[in-house]
Amino acid sequence: MSSSSLESHRIAVIGAGSWGTALGAWLANNGHTVRIWDVDQKIIEDINHHHQNSQYFKDIELPNGLQGCNTLESAIESCSAVVVAVPSRVFHLAVNSVSDHLHLMDSGTKPIVIWGTKGFDSETGDLLSEVTARILKDRATTATIAGPSFAYEVIRGMPTGFHLASTNAEDIESVANMFRNKTSLVYTTDDIVGVQVGGATKNVIAIAAGIADGLGFGTNTRALLITRGFAEMNRLNVALGGRTETLMGLSGMGDLLLTCSGDLSRNRRLGLGLGSGKQLDSILEEIGQEVEGLQSARETYHVGKKLDVFMPMTERVYRILYEQLPPMQAAMELLAIGPSIPDRNR
Ligand SMILES: NC(=O)c1ccc[n+]([C@@H]2O[C@H](COP(=O)([O-])OP(=O)(O)OC[C@H]3O[C@@H](n4cnc5c(N)ncnc54)[C@H](O)[C@@H]3O)[C@@H](O)[C@H]2O)c1
Repeated sequence: MSSSSLESHRIAVIGAGSWGTALGAWLANNGHTVRIWDVDQKIIEDINHHHQNSQYFKDIELPNGLQGCNTLESAIESCSAVVVAVPSRVFHLAVNSVSDHLHLMDSGTKPIVIWGTKGFDSETGDLLSEVTARILKDRATTATIAGPSFAYEVIRGMPTGFHLASTNAEDIESVANMFRNKTSLVYTTDDIVGVQVGGATKNVIAIAAGIADGLGFGTNTRALLITRGFAEMNRLNVALGGRTETLMGLSGMGDLLLTCSGDLSRNRRLGLGLGSGKQLDSILEEIGQEVEGLQSARETYHVGKKLDVFMPMTERVYRILYEQLPPMQAAMELLAIGPSIPDRNR
């Protein structure tokens, strides 16, 4: 594969929600030919007839190089790369569909499958790299892109930084070059575990930070939660085989800071609602879009429990969401645990 950043690819994007649309527009603006597909055909019609995705971005005109497709087959045909941007609960379904149609892709090169989805597999609790490895085996070069990146800002071309992780060392720079441009910094790493753990767990801490703000606590408390939240994210990261230095980078600490402090975060907004005494159903109705942290909290809690990792904040967020633990009681319980844990300095 050539490593020229000017090389133009045919790329399919699976999922035309916030992130898929932002990724598709970004790649099309980089000069690639991009075809996007979604199970929701209303979005595809909107993209093709009005050059917009009014469900997610009312005021954005999408580039001509981004074309909607009515079927996954037509999106994927002759492409050299596929970017999956669906919620984690359906990730395995999307990758299975991609796998079934891999033979339609450009036969001149090894297919590239990249995912922007963050989270654990909803059925097994596996990392998404384990899902892709199981389904695709060695038939594709695989990579994931993650970082502090609200779709709302990426689609407006605001400067943003990312980690692109792949264990395919010889292809990683070429894949990163598909995304690089004047405003997008893409750092490469082979630590695919560390990059994914950051993206999968930061939502849980963002819910906790939102709850604290909703309870009326201040910025001291938020900083406490972010710092101790990072510590428990990293205990899980290390237990899964990821590197601490990766988690300290864009896809870990970077994304954690963004999600815990930016009001564009659906997870933070969920926490704010819970902390201020609203019922879960009414908060979700108010947000009106899928809040992935709800599932991340359950998955992260179970993965941590399976590996016997001490994750007191994740456990409290899980119990608030699934066992009706009152938020103030959760805060009191966390304070009562105090710093008397064996790894308090980490
Ligand atoms: N929104 C962001 O700012 C952002 C940024 C970075 C990463 N992400 C990650 O990207 C993933 C998607 O998030 P989002 O915000 O775009 O979600 P979203 O709810 O905005 O959109 C998801 C889209 O996926 C479609 N979809 C569902 N099942 C599908 C399937 N089987 N095949 C094809 N399409 C399907 C839905 O119709 C919907 O249009 C998540 O894992 C999220 O963590 C989001």
